[in-house]
Amino acid sequence: MSATDSALTNETAAARARAVIPGGVNSPVRAFGSVGGTPLSIVSAHGATVTDVTGREYVDLVASWGPALLGHAHPRVVDAVQRAAARGLSFGASTPGETELAELVVERLAVDGARGIERLRLVSTGTEATMTAIRIARGATGRDVIIKFAGHYHGHSDGLLAESGSGVATLGLPGSAGVPAPIAGLTLVLPYNDRAAVRDAFAAHPGRIAAIIAEGAGANAGILAPEDGFNDFLVETAHREGALFILDEVLTGFRVDPAGWWGHERARGAGYVPDLLTFGKVIGGGMPLAGIGGRADFMELLAPLGPVYQAGTLSGNPLAVAAGVETLRLADAGVYAAVDAASARVASALTAALAAEGVAHTLSFAGNLFSVAFREAPVRDYDDAKDQEAWRYGPFFHAMLAHGVSLPPSVFEAWFLTAAHDDDALTRIEEALPHAARAAAAA
Ligand SMILES: Cc1ncc(COP(=O)(O)O)c(C=O)c1O
Repeated sequence: MSATDSALTNETAAARARAVIPGGVNSPVRAFGSVGGTPLSIVSAHGATVTDVTGREYVDLVASWGPALLGHAHPRVVDAVQRAAARGLSFGASTPGETELAELVVERLAVDGARGIERLRLVSTGTEATMTAIRIARGATGRDVIIKFAGHYHGHSDGLLAESGSGVATLGLPGSAGVPAPIAGLTLVLPYNDRAAVRDAFAAHPGRIAAIIAEGAGANAGILAPEDGFNDFLVETAHREGALFILDEVLTGFRVDPAGWWGHERARGAGYVPDLLTFGKVIGGGMPLAGIGGRADFMELLAPLGPVYQAGTLSGNPLAVAAGVETLRLADAGVYAAVDAASARVASALTAALAAEGVAHTLSFAGNLFSVAFREAPVRDYDDAKDQEAWRYGPFFHAMLAHGVSLPPSVFEAWFLTAAHDDDALTRIEEALPHAARAAAAA
């Protein structure tokens, strides 16, 4: 089976995949489970578009689930990776490039005299990043329990899957089989934006909570943005109780602002500084790369300096680092302005199209990220996100696909614009939306 096999269709590609790959996919949401139909089998992606095995091109609003801030296969990023590849694929040793990337991140996270992070450790996936952040928090405090919020997704490590967003929300699961009860029991899952629930949790578990972990802005059960002051409240509460605050910026980092969600909120008056931040997606420009950053004293608990162990054969892989460095170098103010403008244009066309068909809906925003929910009332927490006419999304999604636009195959995901969504791409989205709105109305 090759990408140029002219007999290949998405159906035949999916059938062959299912015979050798569980569900035919290497990450569940790709299976189109909640929207039905045959998943696309993609062979290439450039700029704002992806192309499937049949040669059909779609304007893409998945952006590899976030990394493609500049658009797919930006020529300078591809060139940087190719030059790195020619020097060797992996060394299992330190490289100058990984220091350069850490310097770039530390610089970006210096906002208004506040230093978001002082040290950065690179890993390969967001899952590893959050898993390690939790371990540092436990190592720093000598405590075991963590607080997470319902509908927030922090990757698929055992302790973080309870009432999780992303594919777990898409499949409507409470968590995962295979997670030992004693491990799940160390995670307290609270409703988001609920200060009383946080206070009550600390009161009920005195001296036992190591950390609160929250997404920058929740973006894995649709957008669940923090209400004004909520993250400040979380940091103050955590610190008063001797716990750490971990801001998971795997999705929002370097996407909503040059300094991520934290930078976005600082620019709007927030005063908090997280103890640890996690990054992924954009930091690797489309290659497997992620990181944990934070205060030097916490980060230096990591081996080889401290007692908290963490390691990785491919951590700081030179190709991934080359993609990350080039992406961050290119992601200047113009890029963020372009993504913001493209996002505002699509959001306004979306709401206009749904309103014209009388489809009850609400859009939720976190900077340039947005999602749609088929309900009228705003979405404040995971219960709200689940309380919608989600069944309208399948027909909506397939009408967009039929008109050449590839959306995230779940209503619980954000729509990702990129700096490569030019007028032509945005016009194609605007032309497809009325058809999709009609399909949603008729659902
Ligand atoms: C906020 C957040 N944290 C962690 C992760 C896990 O990252 P990865 O899929 O690279 O393991 C994701 C992935 O979507 C995410 O959105």
